[in-house]
Formats: sequence, structure tokens, C-alpha cells
Amino acid sequence: MNDLSSAPFAPPPVIHRADYRPPEWLIPQIALNFALSLDATKVQSTLKVRRNPAGDATTQLRLNGDALEAKAITVDGHPHNDWHMDGSDLVIDLPGDAHDIGIETLIDPTANTQLSGLYASNGLLCTQCEAEGFRRITFFPDRPDVLSVYSVRMSGDKAAFPVLLSNGNPTDSGDGPDDTHWAEWHDPWPKPSYLFALVAGDLVANRDSFTTMNGRKVSLAIYVRAGDEERTDHAMRSLIASMKWDEDVYGREYDLDIFNIVAVSDFNAGAMENKGLNVFNTRYILADPETATDGDYDAVEGVVAHEYFHNWSGNRVTCRDWFQLSLKEGFTVLRDQQFSADRGSPPVKRIEDVRVLRAAQFPEDSGPLAHPIRPDSYQEISNFYTATVYNKGAEVIRMMTVLTGMERFLKGTSLYFDRHDGEAATCEDFVKAIEDGAGIDLAQFRRWYEQAGTPKVTVEMAHTGSTVTLTLTQTMAPTPGQPVKQPMVIPLRTALFDRATGQHHGEELLVLDQPSQTFTFEGFADAPVLSINRGFSAPVEITAPITADDLVFLAAHDDDPFARYEAMQQLIVRHLVAAISGTMSDAERAAGRAAIGDAMGAILDDTALDDLMRGELLILPGEAYLAEQLTRADPTRIFAEREGLKRWLGETLKDKWLALHDRCSAVPYSLDAAARGARKLKTQALVHLAPADPAEAAARAKAQYDSATNMTDRQSALMVLCSLSVAEREAALADFHDRFAGNMLVIDKWFSLQAGSLNPNATEHVKALAQHPDFTMANPNRVRALWMAYAVNAQAFHREGGEGYRLIADLILRLDPINANVAARFVSSLGRWKKVDETRAALMRAELERIAAAPTLSRDVREQVTKSLE
Ligand code: PHE
Ligand code: ZN
Repeated sequence: MNDLSSAPFAPPPVIHRADYRPPEWLIPQIALNFALSLDATKVQSTLKVRRNPAGDATTQLRLNGDALEAKAITVDGHPHNDWHMDGSDLVIDLPGDAHDIGIETLIDPTANTQLSGLYASNGLLCTQCEAEGFRRITFFPDRPDVLSVYSVRMSGDKAAFPVLLSNGNPTDSGDGPDDTHWAEWHDPWPKPSYLFALVAGDLVANRDSFTTMNGRKVSLAIYVRAGDEERTDHAMRSLIASMKWDEDVYGREYDLDIFNIVAVSDFNAGAMENKGLNVFNTRYILADPETATDGDYDAVEGVVAHEYFHNWSGNRVTCRDWFQLSLKEGFTVLRDQQFSADRGSPPVKRIEDVRVLRAAQFPEDSGPLAHPIRPDSYQEISNFYTATVYNKGAEVIRMMTVLTGMERFLKGTSLYFDRHDGEAATCEDFVKAIEDGAGIDLAQFRRWYEQAGTPKVTVEMAHTGSTVTLTLTQTMAPTPGQPVKQPMVIPLRTALFDRATGQHHGEELLVLDQPSQTFTFEGFADAPVLSINRGFSAPVEITAPITADDLVFLAAHDDDPFARYEAMQQLIVRHLVAAISGTMSDAERAAGRAAIGDAMGAILDDTALDDLMRGELLILPGEAYLAEQLTRADPTRIFAEREGLKRWLGETLKDKWLALHDRCSAVPYSLDAAARGARKLKTQALVHLAPADPAEAAARAKAQYDSATNMTDRQSALMVLCSLSVAEREAALADFHDRFAGNMLVIDKWFSLQAGSLNPNATEHVKALAQHPDFTMANPNRVRALWMAYAVNAQAFHREGGEGYRLIADLILRLDPINANVAARFVSSLGRWKKVDETRAALMRAELERIAAAPTLSRDVREQVTKSLE
């Protein structure tokens, strides 16, 4: 992962899915003994190795290592000299079929800036082993199909490390010499090395318990730094709700006596599902009204659930190899989405999930890094923790639920869990279990695992006599390595509405599995209004003959809430795409805006809508999704047209926005849906008013900021002030910084708000913030808060002259030696050059080439840059 290659002309090896071989050796048991210290931790590992009857015959045992040195090697208790290093791997010659191997390594957690393996975070020691971090702790067959029972002993200074945690159950503990103590843990469930975890440090716990469906009492604890425990109640409630939900819906019971969560502030990802010891980024644990927005509350609930659900979808049944990553991630994302839908509003959750998919995954699918949800090859597996593997992976399994219904689908998942419990499985195993359990043929459906790219479905509608004919045609653009695509199975929930009655004739599921297919419907005196892909039943792009008037009709009348949202989005997307393409007359622009204005006005007035849903209907389509609709576009043009429409809506509906802001400001803070809906609408009101009447918006935002009792109101007010060049801006930013000084997560917001701002000076602000004493390259949350927010801020990042590109390229080059995993995630922002105008494309390519020419690059960044230049 931090393998710095000094030979730029020797490309890193490509690993192919087709090359999978079963392991030659199995490791039924491992005992680890850690002598803990922040800068010199000694690791003694004892492995029981057994020749795998299913593996290739060899006398050599290959153990992966990364930046490790073997200090002492024993075989069956005796010093052993028949070993050598092959690159960073340790290869031991073994005479027999079963041996005990002893290996000692010495590691420096403080020097570990990659945050993979064992590292130090503010005096705390913790591990991150997925995907290939365990090999940075000790030599081991670091692949997910080698499952072992772990026994762990830790010893260390009692004052520095009062809490000593690992997977499974604590078995013994005691005091050692010189103010040290020790603890032993045992995990009875065989697991791959990527699920190993250890935490040692000064932590306090919020404790609770859960009684499982079979009456077993599980002790729960969430460990954080002293002072943070007040902010863990929401996470604890979410955990308990997740445990109950997985029993109720999927019939999955927890399987250890304790479940621990630890929150750390230095973490590459969101959280990690280590068996019985989940390790979290603090941002997905800590929440209270003053410091966390409603969105943060939802994210905590969703990620706590996600990691908990991995106990079955990931841990009890794990992945055979990393090409199968979507087996655990796609399925677990689906499970956390279903859970959150059940906890709140299902339609609103669906809309949010589709918005994320369109903003993050659709661009991936149409760009240089496109890959199937089950990739065929990789250079660095860390680069494949993507929106495709996660979010599209969830959509693919969701389509199975559309085809089978939830009841049959759950028969399939039960069979899957039963059949593969304790195994390292494949995506194919999952599909087969759904076929067998749900009774469905998924032969052609499997292409969703094989083909990259977002299918496009074009609809033609004919009406003759009383018959309606729909002709559906699917196409898929080539993606890297896949020039020709086969037709997919696309389930489309569809309804045909009578204009006169406002009713449809019953929803039908159309399954498109040919290049082109015709469906007929009887009983239509007049041509109906088409509502298709309701609930977003398939992750595809639809082009359909629905007039602007019909979209206005659907936005107001469709009984599927997602379809209502979609109609509103389509109405705006079409208008903006035409405007951006420059194919619009003034009269057309006026007519388009008027239609959107009327539809929004109706939504603002609709008393039957709940406010959370109303908020969704008012949000304009995102810039990334708009860019997807265009072959090649000037991003600042997309921005300008979108802002122009927003300003026009702000002016035209001004009285309604003001009334809305007044009404919602009177709703007191609570976490119930009505109050959350009110806060969401306050934000939408200010966002539309800001470009239309900056003085009015600034005054309201300042008042909202000053009287805020919660972070949702405070942050949205500050966001609006931040976008304006008004006097209130500086004062509010300064107040925010003072008020929350020392709270890392809130200071992250302070960075993000400025870096992601619509303010025309955002680039200058970002350059200054990079020099701010609170900025550090050592903390991934802080790096993302500033630089990810900037990289997705199109108007700033794409500013003329290419300064934004240069800043991100500089960041990648400086961050790469510190944290390659995080650095590589920034490459895709430069990789979208084919989608922007030629002047910008050349500037973006030049920055990619500058990165590629660097004398040393991590495997992570090199893979992404090379692919982005192709
Ligand atoms: N497996 C984690 C999750 O999705 C994500 C993760 C990957 C965390 C790699 C750290 C490193 O739940
Ligand atoms: Zn996951």
C-alpha cells in the first residue's frame, strides 16, 4: 500500500481474477503476542500451518510482508535457517505437512503515516488491516480465504494503555513488571487476517447491552476519548436498533458475548467491521445536536448499521479473494439502506441513495476508471473500494429484490448464509444461492457482475385505437477493456397514467433483457403519461418521450414518491442541458423556467406533502449528474446555468421562500421527521434566496446563525453566508472557529464550508486555509475536509487557467508519501478530462502527466494516474 516504487518504468504487477489458486497452506490457529509501545512494538507470532489438500503441492510457505523485517524464525520450536526474502515476502522451506512457525517482527506505529497496519493516533495504538494491512504487522498469508482462530496477548504500560482490546472475548488479564499490565483475548470464530484488530489506549466507554432473539445477553461498549462519551448515545441507539433489525428482517443473530466499537480520529475510511471490535472514524460515532447536523445523525446510524451487518455479510461469510469485494460490500450497503429506510422515510432514503449513485457512481462508470462491480484485475486493491463496488453493487442486489420480491429474496439470503457460513465465498456463490432459494433464473442477470458502464434505455411510445405500445431499446457505451457489451436484464417498474383521471392502470414490472423489446397495453382511449423506472428499480439512464407538461403532471400527481422526484429532476435536467448546450432561444428559456417555476410553486404549496419529501423535490440536480448528460461541457457553464436558474427561482418564488423560511423557523428543535423536514426547508429557502436577494438572505442567515440551537441550522446559515461576499461572512466564520476550537470534527466543517463554497474567491480561501495552523496532512478527515471539498467544487476547481488542477496535483504529490490510500482518491477529479472542454482537458492531462513523471509514486497513485491518462 505504501510500496514506493523507485523504478517508474517497471509497472506494478497486475493481479487477475482468473489467476485465483486456493492457498497452499492453511493456518488453523495463530497466537499473537504484542509488547506494545508507540514507537517500537514487538510482535511475536506463532502459526499452526497445515498443508492444504486442495492447494498446489509445494515445500515453500510464502508469507506476505510489507516493510517488515523478520527478526527470528523458528519451525517446531527450533531456530530455522531455510528461508529467504522474495521482494517483501518471507518464503520458508518446510519439510512436512504440518508445522508450528514462530516469527518475530518489530514495528514503529508512530512512523506509520499510511494508517494501515498498526499505527498511533494521539497516543492511542490501533490497527487497520483491510485490505492488506495485516502484512504490515507480521508475516502471514494475507488473503481473505485463509481463516484462523486468533489468540492475542498484549502487554504495555498501564498508564499509557489502560484499555487493551482485541477481537472476540477477553480471557485473562493481569499486572506485569514495571507498571505494565497485560490482557489476553480469544476469538472463537475463524477469520481472515483483514478482520484482525487491536486497540490500546486511554479510552472511556459508553456501555449498554442487547439480548438476542435466543436470550443471550451481549455487552455493548463504545470506546472514545474522555469527554466524548456524551456524544455516543445516538451511535449506541443505532447499534441496538441494527442488532434487532438484522434478527427481525434477515434472521441473523449476533454470535459473541461482547461487541465493542472504538472511535479514532485518524482513519483512512469511514469504519471497519473487525470481528467483535469495530473501529470507526470519529465522524461516524460522535453526534449531539450542537455539533452534528441531521445528515451527520443519519450517517452515524447508517455506518453503525453497515459495520454491524458485516458480522454476517462479510465476517461469518467472507470473500474468497478481493475481486469478490462487492459480495460483502454491495450486499451490506443494501442492508444498511434497507435498515435506514425502515428507520425513517423509505422514499426520502431512496432519493438520497439515488442522488449519491448519480453523483459518484455514474461518473465513475463513464470515466477512465470504470470497472465492473466484480473487477477482473487490479494493481492496488485499495483503489477498488469504489462507489461502483459499494453503491452499484447494492443496486444490483436490489434489482434481485425487484425481480423476486422481498420474501423470496430473503429465502435466498437465508440459504446463502446457511450454505456458506464459515466460508470464504464468491459473488457467484451469492447469485447461485439467490437462484436456488428464491427460485429464479439469474443466468443473464450475471452480466451485471461482468460488465462496467451504465445502461441507457430509450423508450418509444405509440398509441393506436385503445392500444399503447412501448418499445424499449438498451445500449451501453464501451468502457476500458470492454469495447462490446451484451444486453443486460433491466427490471423497470412502469405505470401509465390517464391524464383525465390522474390515475394509472396498475403498475407493471417490465423486464427488458433483449437489445430491443416491445410491450403492449390495452384499454387506453387517450395516449397516457408514462411513468417508468419507478422507485429507480434499475440503475440505468432513461430517455423517454415525456413532454415537459407530462413531467409537470407527474411531479404533481405520481403516486410513487420517487417518480415524482424524478419527474421534477427530469424537467430541470432537460432545461439545463439545453441551456448549457447553447441550443435554447430566449423564448424557450423563458418557457422552460416558467414550467419549472410552476412545478416548484405547486410543491411549495402542496399541503399533503411532508417537509422531508418536499425538501427533496426542491433540490436542483447536481452538477456532476448534469455533466453526465453532456458529452463534453465547460463545467463553469454548467455552474452558471444552474445558478442562473436558482436565482430566477429565488426571485420568482421569493414570497413563497420567505414564507417557508418563516414557517420552518418557528419549529422547535427535535430529531423527529417534522422538525428535520423544517430544517431541510430552511436551508433550501436560504439557498434559493441567496443569489436572488443577497442582502435579505444574509440578514436571515445571520439571524439563523446567531439564534441556532443546533448544527443543522448553524451550518446551513454559515454555508449561505460563506457563499456571499458580505460583511457578515468573516464575522460568522470567526465565531464558528472560536466557538468550536478543539473540536476536530466541527473544525473539519469549517474547512469544508469554505473550500466547497460558491464564493467566487474559494480558490484564494483554500490556498490560505492550506497554510492555516489547524491544517495538517497527517489527518485524513482534515485533508478531505479541505481538499475533497475543493476538488468537487466545480466553479473553483475548474476555474480558468488550471490553477485548481495544479493545486490538486500538488496535493497528490505531497500526500502520496504520507498516505497513498488517501492521495489516490484525488486522482479521479483530474481523470475526468474527456468530459470537459478541450482547453481544460489539456490542462488536466498536463497535471496527470506531471504526477506520472514523479520519480517515486505509490502503487495506489500510479495505477489511478496511468489509467486516467489512457
Ligand atoms: N470494510 C469497510 C466497510 O465498508 C471499509 C474499509 C475498507 C475500511 C478498507 C478501512 C479500509 O465497512
Ligand atoms: Zn462495508
